[in-house]
Amino acid sequence: MCGIIGYYGKDGKAIDVILNGLKRMEYRGYDSAGVAFSDENILVVKNVGRIKDLESKLNGIERIFDIGIGHTRWATHGKVSEENAHPHTNMDETIAVVHNGIIENHAELRKQLKEKGYNFKTETDTEVIPHLIDFHYKKNNDGDFKKAFTDALKELIGAYAIVAIHKDENRIYCAKFGSSPLRLGVSKSKDEIIVASDRLALIGICEEEQILENGEIVVISKDYEKGYNIEDFEGFEIEDILRKVPKDIEAITKGEYEDFMLKEIREQPNTIRTAVGGRIEHLETLAIDNFPDLPREISRLILLACGTSWHAGKVAEYLFDEKTGIVCQAEIASEFRYKRPVLFPNDFVIAISQSGETADTLAALKLAKEKGCYIGGIVNSVGSSIAQTAAKGVYLHAGPEIGVASTKAFTSQVAVLTILKAFLTNDDNYIKKLKDGFSELPSKIEEVFKIEEQIKDIAERISGFERFLFLGRGINYPVALEGALKFKEITYRLAEGYPAGEMKHGPIALIDRETPSIFILSGKNEYYEKTMSNIQEVKSRDGRVIIVTDDKEALRKNGCLTKTDFIIEVPRIIEELSPIINVIPLQLLAYYSAKFLGWDVDKPRNLAKSVTVE
Ligand code: AGP
Repeated sequence: MCGIIGYYGKDGKAIDVILNGLKRMEYRGYDSAGVAFSDENILVVKNVGRIKDLESKLNGIERIFDIGIGHTRWATHGKVSEENAHPHTNMDETIAVVHNGIIENHAELRKQLKEKGYNFKTETDTEVIPHLIDFHYKKNNDGDFKKAFTDALKELIGAYAIVAIHKDENRIYCAKFGSSPLRLGVSKSKDEIIVASDRLALIGICEEEQILENGEIVVISKDYEKGYNIEDFEGFEIEDILRKVPKDIEAITKGEYEDFMLKEIREQPNTIRTAVGGRIEHLETLAIDNFPDLPREISRLILLACGTSWHAGKVAEYLFDEKTGIVCQAEIASEFRYKRPVLFPNDFVIAISQSGETADTLAALKLAKEKGCYIGGIVNSVGSSIAQTAAKGVYLHAGPEIGVASTKAFTSQVAVLTILKAFLTNDDNYIKKLKDGFSELPSKIEEVFKIEEQIKDIAERISGFERFLFLGRGINYPVALEGALKFKEITYRLAEGYPAGEMKHGPIALIDRETPSIFILSGKNEYYEKTMSNIQEVKSRDGRVIIVTDDKEALRKNGCLTKTDFIIEVPRIIEELSPIINVIPLQLLAYYSAKFLGWDVDKPRNLAKSVTVE
């Protein structure tokens, strides 16, 4: 997934506004970046690496531009190189284009364009766009760039958000089709317009925004009274429905924190409060506001998600059991969408997503919608594609999650899912238990932060090892999966999450002094003793263990631990909320391990915050 931006403003601000916008969207992809500005000619500056490196390249350039576009890339087609970085231009460099998405028929278009005499400089799918616009511009030969732009779009197959400029046009041309998001932002005085992949790029300049829909084209120009015009591919004007852009700059800055990830870990007491809000007190509002007209007899809840969000769904599987009479299935969206799933109209299908833009999750949700299921969303990003497709559901209101490794979104997703169980089962005992649990949850999360130094110390002691097992049973199995994902995606060490009971069926072969096993062991339930046995199986093979537990004494009495083992004691809470407590030491363990290894925890290599491509 990439971040794209276009700016049409004043006072020669284009370079600074675009660089700042790219910095705010850098979490969307950061292997290379580039900008283009329109004045007498098109000036293009690109760079492999981060925005700050691109900024250095631009320092010597006079701030005279009012129109410009920019792009920060997560490579899909073509290796990471300066040539393959966006913007891409036509051969005589009169047109520059930035693009987020995939042009599925790029090979065929490239072949056709080459036969028409076009030469390509890059390996990207995107480069067909400026050449195609150029072809239509010259073929039409009437100087109508908008028509050339639209004619070119009609030949593209795939998902795209495109922003284009032409050297002779004091305009910016934008279009959205498929799962690539694009928002239009307008300043209060309407003399500064920004179009960008993410609302974060609008904050601070734009007072109002509009989320563009599929098949919409925006032309930004001072010729229009409001500064822009929105139309469809046939030229019919589309009404704008602008809404306020939050002014919350603090939410998108690190404040006193070194990294967004640490800030977002520490925000969790508050984000849990926000996720829960009054929902548990007023479950009836869920039926009215969030899931209206829900069929009465729900026998199956299908949760569609990827990565961390799928782990939250796996936690929910353990919330629903024979007592609730509802089958809960957490489905990996990229598998679900292709396995021709058996679906029934009274299936309740919910997409779980922080970004609300994950292509596989969006596609899986659309499949369920086509099959006539009742669909919903549990999403953090307001107005995102998944939220719009679901058209109903629950927002996390966790605030922007900038760190690529998801933390606060996961715990808010779990909290909302425990409330969903209360809503679907209407079990008074469970509701009371949950209310009591939520009342103490934020303070218990704060208690975990009191042992942060211990976790940091453990992180430094284990950071030399190359491979790790994360193990748990029952509701702690998805926590083990999540702990392993956090660890691997920011330390780049091999970390495998596994059901503790499955260890003896193979993974135990990995156990040695160089392979620490991280166990999650909480709650006095039928899994507790079995997990203790698994810990002993590791110890009897001279393995090292780190145990996240809510009962340190019980562990000590067991007597199987040695001085190379570590116990991270966390507060006890009801089982349904224990994943929220138990995951936090694992988030911190991953964070401090990666910091000790010197990695960029907010922008891990090869990753992007939201994968809007398949
Ligand atoms: C989590 O740390 C990862 N960044 C990744 O697995 C992420 O959870 C996944 O891509 C799903 O993203 P979403 O929640 O925005 O849909």
